Amino acid sequence: MELNQIKAEAEKEISPIISQKDLENWRVKYLGRKSELSLFFDSLKSLPFPLRKKQGNKANQTRQFLLVLYQQKRKNLEKNQPDFEFFDLTRPGEKPKKGHLHPLTMVLREIVHSFEKIGFEVVEGPEIETEYYNFDALRIPENHPARDMWDTFWLKSKVKLSSRAQVEGSQKSKMLLRTHTSPMQIRYMEKHQPPFRIIVPGKCFRFEATDALHEFQFHQVEGLMVGENISLANFKFIIREVIEDIFKHQVELRFRPSYFPFVTPGLEVDIKIKSKVNDEWLEIMGAGMIHPQLFKNVGYEANQWQGFAFGLGVERIAMIKYGIDDIRLFFSSDIRFLEQF
Ligand code: FA5
Repeated sequence: MELNQIKAEAEKEISPIISQKDLENWRVKYLGRKSELSLFFDSLKSLPFPLRKKQGNKANQTRQFLLVLYQQKRKNLEKNQPDFEFFDLTRPGEKPKKGHLHPLTMVLREIVHSFEKIGFEVVEGPEIETEYYNFDALRIPENHPARDMWDTFWLKSKVKLSSRAQVEGSQKSKMLLRTHTSPMQIRYMEKHQPPFRIIVPGKCFRFEATDALHEFQFHQVEGLMVGENISLANFKFIIREVIEDIFKHQVELRFRPSYFPFVTPGLEVDIKIKSKVNDEWLEIMGAGMIHPQLFKNVGYEANQWQGFAFGLGVERIAMIKYGIDDIRLFFSSDIRFLEQF
């Protein structure tokens, strides 16, 4: 056989080899004592000197070439052997780990979707608010006891009177992290004429000690429906529809009189939580009929319009839906908690 042919065949045969045993057979065939190459070396003896030298060189190069092939293959097999020999192409692959939505995001989206189904438009507002929109425009003046309900994260400001606050007609310069989504009642009404129905989902912040039911950051969905002849009966009907749509079953709700300066009358809504031991009521929102003063503040004809407003606590809904007994778990970033959803 020609030397080039030996090289070509040896190279072709070594490439699919995946076991040491086959590699050894290959070595014997191409580099062993009875190999074609050995026979070629033997045949050189009978050649005259100059030709012997020339052919001898070529044969040595071929041997070198085969040795390199052999050593490389052996190295590769040693490195890969375990995977290589037992590689099963039909085995199902490992699923890459991927994340999913946070449980609060899921619940928030469901709440928003339930309101959208009955014609509420979704709008958003700023998390950094002015004192005017968060308190004053909602009839919560400084020193009013109702401000205690919303212990506030105030923001330090180097500018005495922020230009934004000026533009927005605020007399107050102080900025804060909004303590509820209600400032959007004013912001929206300032720019829109009734009739309308909107919801405002968003994050709120309160400078208060945390416990199983209270976080210093949480979410609310504010609701606002203004038109002619809107009454509390409309509110009660809509809230029941939405809550039952979110929980996918009938719920027991309790409407309790309460006080918020920006509504009259004001109320709070509780939901009955049934457990094996005892039933409990959990407060899920504050609400009421919009105070006529707010309509005046935004330039509406107060006698012409009525409306209701509410602020629904999103974490509370998520806790009931998933049976979570401590609100602090939501922001704990504990992967064992999050993986359960
Ligand atoms: C308010 O924030 C009013 N702005 C609600 C409102 C809107 C009344 C429109 C009238 C008209 P309150 O502080 O009660 O009200 O909060 C409303 C809901 O937010 C509570 O029922 C509760 O579900 C949730 N919430 C309040 N504080 C926290 C907190 N620290 N952690 C978690 N959820 C909270």
